[in-house]
Amino acid sequence: MQYHQVIIVGGGLAGLRAAVAVNEMNIQACVISRVHPLRSHTVAAQGGINAPLGNHPRGRYDTWEKHAYDTIKGSDFLADQDAVIKMTQEASTRIIEMEHWGCPFNRTTEGKIAQRPFGGAGFPRTCYVADTTGHALLHTLYEQIIRFQQAAERRELVLCPEWLVTALVVEGDECRGVIAMDMTSGKQEAFLGEAVIFATGGAGRLYANTTNALIKTGMGMAVPYWAGIPLKDIEFIQFHPTTLFGKNILISEGARGEGGYLINNKGERFLANYPDSRKAMEIAPRDIIARNMTREIQEGRGFDSAYLHLDLRHLGAERILSKLHGIRTICLDFAGIDPITDPIPVQPGQHYTMGGIDCNTACETRLRGFYAAGEAACVSVHGANRLGGNSLLETLVFGQIAGENAAKYVQGKAETSQGQRSLDETLKTAEGKVDRLLKSEGRESPSRIKTELSNLMVQKAGIFRDAAGLKTALQGIKTLQERYRNIGLDHRGRRWNTALHSTLELEGSLDVAEAVVTGALAREESRGSHYRTDFPKRDDEKWFRHTLAFYSKEGPRLEYCEVRPGPFKLEERKY
Ligand code: FUM
Repeated sequence: MQYHQVIIVGGGLAGLRAAVAVNEMNIQACVISRVHPLRSHTVAAQGGINAPLGNHPRGRYDTWEKHAYDTIKGSDFLADQDAVIKMTQEASTRIIEMEHWGCPFNRTTEGKIAQRPFGGAGFPRTCYVADTTGHALLHTLYEQIIRFQQAAERRELVLCPEWLVTALVVEGDECRGVIAMDMTSGKQEAFLGEAVIFATGGAGRLYANTTNALIKTGMGMAVPYWAGIPLKDIEFIQFHPTTLFGKNILISEGARGEGGYLINNKGERFLANYPDSRKAMEIAPRDIIARNMTREIQEGRGFDSAYLHLDLRHLGAERILSKLHGIRTICLDFAGIDPITDPIPVQPGQHYTMGGIDCNTACETRLRGFYAAGEAACVSVHGANRLGGNSLLETLVFGQIAGENAAKYVQGKAETSQGQRSLDETLKTAEGKVDRLLKSEGRESPSRIKTELSNLMVQKAGIFRDAAGLKTALQGIKTLQERYRNIGLDHRGRRWNTALHSTLELEGSLDVAEAVVTGALAREESRGSHYRTDFPKRDDEKWFRHTLAFYSKEGPRLEYCEVRPGPFKLEERKY
């Protein structure tokens, strides 16, 4: 058994920022992560991070109020306004902090942090490091972790990479730790603590066509869900308009922010033909562009009935090489084309989970001592649709808040042995599960179940949804859950048994997918990313509320709670 005052699960930007905040308050912490922190999915974030710095001449009168309004409108008014206000008020501080810690942001000619246009703002607000912003931010923050680890006067900050968290330890109404598997040895161990923060990222791998890393299975949402914490607004799934055709690799919104065009097989910038994207064109919000791209393809104006073109050629080699070198390399390596001379074949793909672990603006959940931040959490700042550039921002703002509040919670609390009993029981249950899997004579293959699940989600719970499709999805998931009980592993050893790791996670993926579909089936309206062809209008009278999905063995139980209003009034979402 290990003891740490604060246990942080997740080594991406939110988890590391939380770790810094805990350490700054002189509280001891450990960060448990499924991969080495520098391999976290944050590293794949490309185009930028929003803050109303006002450094671009066209955005010089930018304010947190404008940023908040754009975010709330982008969310189709489902975001909680106090959460959005908190995020936008903190944005500039967090960016400048990262600048002072050495993040190599692109610069204006005056030496200020450069900003580029992204969806939903109308002028440049997105700070960036070429098209590798997540990579640069993550490395910068990791350097701070190393610095804090080495500072003699600081409390201990331990990193536990390559551990998979399998259960939450709950004693009464309090969270007292986690059970995690050392992936190297396959042995599970109990981590006892005074507070736990989950910053485990999203659930993109529920979908076959995702930009997300293989580790984004939704397990970090499933573990608290199983422990009784609801998933909020989990039906809202973001599809990014531009992923590399056939490969699902992100082609940054920054490419359109820099001036790239979306073109159909008639050579038209087709976004001009749709009322909701006519004005903002390539920098309209993602839900709108992804839908209009899908319509173009469905109506026969795509290439090979499957993709559209993102044309950057008019930007010129110099701009592409200096600001979009990452996506050029991706195109060269994975499609054999050069965006300097060729249009990029693109299609929409799953990118982000707007919903997640239900928590408030202090990152507190309904379980004492348990906090959540980043994509795993639903604070909620993104509502029904996230604006590009607000994800990295959310990780820094709410990672810091989660860390500070967890540390405050722990301060003054003595180390106790309370929790030991539930810890032993939870460890025993978790071990029983692994033993059963390793001994099972079942004939179902985990990879086949995973593939079937992720294809089903694309086909029936994707950009366009309807009751018939969602019911088919729900039935399909139930069948897959049944089949999961009959799983058999080809390899039964414990050391680095990746089949074992992904089978444990698959149970979580199935349950989170079930919550996505159940929430989507119940929500009989269209709002943001959730588009029901059988209910194509937003219905504020019935559906201006958050979904809360609670785990039960029979399937998710849905409750609803109010959206926290604020200064911005409900309006029709026009761009
Ligand atoms: O398109 C992008 O570069 C992605 C940014 C984001 O999801 O915020």
